[in-house]
Amino acid sequence: MDKNSKIYVAGHHGMVGSAIIRRLHDQGYQNLVLRTSKELDLRRQAEVERFFEEEQPEYVFLAAAKVGGIMANQSYPADFMYDNMIMEMNVIHSAYGIGVKKLMFLGSSCIYPRLAPQPMPESCLLTSSLEQTNEAYALAKISGLKYCEYLNRQCGTDYISVMPTNLYGPNDNYHPEHSHVLPALIRRFHEAREAGKEEVVIWGSGKPLREFLYVDDLADACVYLMNTYSGNETVNLGTGKEVSIAQLAELVKEAVGYKGKITYDPSKPDGTPRKLLDVSKLNALGWTYQTELEEGIRLAYEDFKNSEVRAER
Ligand SMILES: NC(=O)c1ccc[n+]([C@@H]2O[C@H](COP(=O)([O-])OP(=O)(O)OC[C@H]3O[C@@H](n4cnc5c(N)ncnc54)[C@H](OP(=O)(O)O)[C@@H]3O)[C@@H](O)[C@H]2O)c1
Repeated sequence: MDKNSKIYVAGHHGMVGSAIIRRLHDQGYQNLVLRTSKELDLRRQAEVERFFEEEQPEYVFLAAAKVGGIMANQSYPADFMYDNMIMEMNVIHSAYGIGVKKLMFLGSSCIYPRLAPQPMPESCLLTSSLEQTNEAYALAKISGLKYCEYLNRQCGTDYISVMPTNLYGPNDNYHPEHSHVLPALIRRFHEAREAGKEEVVIWGSGKPLREFLYVDDLADACVYLMNTYSGNETVNLGTGKEVSIAQLAELVKEAVGYKGKITYDPSKPDGTPRKLLDVSKLNALGWTYQTELEEGIRLAYEDFKNSEVRAER
């Protein structure tokens, strides 16, 4: 990408899209095309085609998606499949239609089989069954990355896909019921501290191992790979490091300054014992993460406090 290249970031209000915007601005890219979902509903094929015809972007980051936790995925699988599949197809097909030079499709590590080897290499895609709880979302994401691959093979495009691990950081979702584990812990420890509660109870045994990548590092990797990587196989984006939920809870407790105790409720489900991406391909491509979890949690907590101030205004 040249500094003057016209770049469309789909989903720029989201956690990932907004981080990509910050990274592009930091690196001097100024010619960005942006639309909220209200301005351009990516499920509307004719409107998406018209947008591409009119704006003629040269590069596209596809970070728009219908995203949700386990409950939402289980309750609305038809919506998750339809919205994501149609958004991806509309954007990728319209990009191809006007000759976009390069497109990056963002997926998620849930595309890999339920019983994938750990750490999960890119090559384990479609080797066995998916996790049932988010199968519809995963199938839509697999279709998006496969459509990029098929266009590359059939039409000679240069469309790439990346699969991030669990992300956290500015613009995360801190909703009390619908948030992911890290932002949920930030909120719970913060509220426990404010209310002077003596203990925070955490679901499960605390033993499952998870990987977390700070979203500004993710954005840095996306811009880096957009400029340096071409290929049909997806690229895992993670740190390659894992922590237990109990270790994570201690880190969040520390960052928030909560002085009470943590207890675990093993009657609640743990989920899969281990979920870690194999990031050897990413590292071999010349990229590694910068932000350690302690620092990232500190920055995320600052963002959480600011989001509370924003919400009160
Ligand atoms: N969060 C994670 O931990 C994580 C981990 C791995 C991968 N990812 C991937 O990263 C991508 C972005 O995730 P995120 O966490 O940034 O999600 P997010 O914060 O929920 O943002 C999603 C964005 O998609 C846009 N969008 C949704 N429906 C749309 C529609 N019909 N038309 C146009 N735009 C629409 C929304 O636009 P408006 O705000 O304008 O409504 C929103 O900005 C997803 O593909 C996700 O799978 C996320």
